[in-house]
Amino acid sequence: HKTKIAIIGAGPSGLLLGQLLTKAGIDNIILERQTGEYVLSRIRAGVLEQGTVSLIRESGAGERMDKEGLVHTGTDFSFQGEHFHIDLEPYTNGKHVVVYGQTEVTRDLMEAREKTGGVTIYQAQNVELHDIESDAPYVTYQHEGEVHRLDCDYIAGCDGFHGVSRKSIPADQLEEYEKVYPFGWLGLMSDTPPVNDELVYCAHERGFALCSMRSPTRSRYYIQVPDTDKIEDWNEEKFWDELKRRIPPEMAERLVTGPAIEMSIAPLRSYVCETMQYGRVFLLGDAAHIVPPTGAKGLNLAASDVDTAYRLFVKIYEDDRTDLIPRYQEICLARTWKAVRFSWWMTMLLHRFHSAGRFDFRAQQAEFDYFIHSEAGRATIAENYVGLPFEALE
Ligand code: FAD
Ligand code: DHB
Repeated sequence: HKTKIAIIGAGPSGLLLGQLLTKAGIDNIILERQTGEYVLSRIRAGVLEQGTVSLIRESGAGERMDKEGLVHTGTDFSFQGEHFHIDLEPYTNGKHVVVYGQTEVTRDLMEAREKTGGVTIYQAQNVELHDIESDAPYVTYQHEGEVHRLDCDYIAGCDGFHGVSRKSIPADQLEEYEKVYPFGWLGLMSDTPPVNDELVYCAHERGFALCSMRSPTRSRYYIQVPDTDKIEDWNEEKFWDELKRRIPPEMAERLVTGPAIEMSIAPLRSYVCETMQYGRVFLLGDAAHIVPPTGAKGLNLAASDVDTAYRLFVKIYEDDRTDLIPRYQEICLARTWKAVRFSWWMTMLLHRFHSAGRFDFRAQQAEFDYFIHSEAGRATIAENYVGLPFEALE
């Protein structure tokens, strides 16, 4: 086969880029290692910034999101059981966030792709990138036992942190930065009404907890657990008990518990690969950077990479602007590092670090107290939480 853009990975980055390119009349084929059902079974992000929402709309897959997504004009925090609210709109010229799960975004994009006749090859095994430094790169993969070759102009690496695209760039060309945290998040999804009408980020001496949701009848909760914990060390009852200890007491009292639909542990990591473009390969989303989930930035950062890559490809195909290629990495990295910083800061502010002493805990408490009670502090949190603006290509 031959296409213009070979997209590796059918997560939110790959599907969103594919849909935007298809709409713009730029040929693309997506190669995904897993099945579609498997991709949909991974429960991940839940909070969309307005820039992400607009881009999903622009791709033509925003109808259900606009109907079912929950607009949140504020977010809540608690420290040792004391509950605080931050209004987002007064500090951000009226911006808000939309609570709509990554699973739903993915499902809507898959359906839109099917409707517009876009090609996604699921269960594409052993994907390999070739001749990426030349002007005739190609990708090989195995599908239903046969080896295929896909010739293309550019390769969009949307294949997540463990994907093949980043690994195809020569190791001595990769500029990487990493920080691993000594804990993970244990998440539980249940068909129970959310305990609060806004999300609540809870700092507590027993560890961080987050009360989130997917709909008025579906809740998503997380608790900080040591990175040595395995999912087998936990059960639903133990989870609910621990959650109740970390959230404000009046919330613990009204918390409705129920059977878990899903329970899993995600490790926390900050990672940036500053080499976001090399030869004909572009890296987007988790393939290029990972943030700890605390700031709800992972999926939103992926969307801002897609925004930049999509507008670049349109300029290349419509106006022959290959001179703009170096702008991709410049634009994406500036925004990436700011989101990486915010996610790291929220993580440090709200989690319990067992290596920290009494002094550190007091300093953390004072920092929280300062940010929550200062106008400037609340503005900083609100401005970052709703998402920094997408930068134009020129
Ligand atoms: P992915 O969603 O990882 O998609 C990459 C796709 O590429 C996958 O479908 C994968 O199967 C495919 N692929 C990989 N390798 C290959 C290959 N060799 N060949 C072909 N295909 C391949 N963010 C939040 O904001 N809040 C959260 O609560 C949150 N929880 C998370 C929990 C976990 C366990 C993880 C891993 C991430 C979480 N994130 C969260 C981050 C957020 O989900 C990601 O930022 C988002 O999924 C990035 O989208 P992506 O399309 O770039 O990558
Ligand atoms: C969710 C996940 C996050 O990381 C976050 O900051 C907010 C919400 C969620 O899964 O609902």
